[in-house]
Amino acid sequence: MNNDIISRKKFLKKLGIAALIPFGAAWYSSVARDVAYSRVNKVKLKYSEIENGITFKDEIIINKKEDGIKIFSSRCSHLGCKLNKMDKNEIVCPCHGSRFSIDGKIIKGPANNNLKELSYSFNKSAKEIVIDVPA
Ligand code: FES
Repeated sequence: MNNDIISRKKFLKKLGIAALIPFGAAWYSSVARDVAYSRVNKVKLKYSEIENGITFKDEIIINKKEDGIKIFSSRCSHLGCKLNKMDKNEIVCPCHGSRFSIDGKIIKGPANNNLKELSYSFNKSAKEIVIDVPA
């Protein structure tokens, strides 16, 4: 009888641990993603070579307007597919169809978040911009 109680306790303990595994996996994947974003590559582009409007270039999307430039990661905020096409002035994910405005705002899911805007700086003497692209 005493062994039955111990067995039940062990079972419930194992059940509790098993129930935590999905949460642990979700936490780990979010931490791993943040760690990945904490490493950056410096990408340099000649300012004069950046065309007005939307340009897809490797891991970035550039939105150049008269009043400035915004740069986004080309990775979809849903599951990370590479964004590389426009439809009706919206950026469209080829994987599951999420749509984003040219300012990176989510228009239609399944993605829930805007595109990740990347920081950059101007190197005036070289007439280029230096973009921090997540490695
Ligand atoms: Fe872009 Fe799913 S990865 S919508």
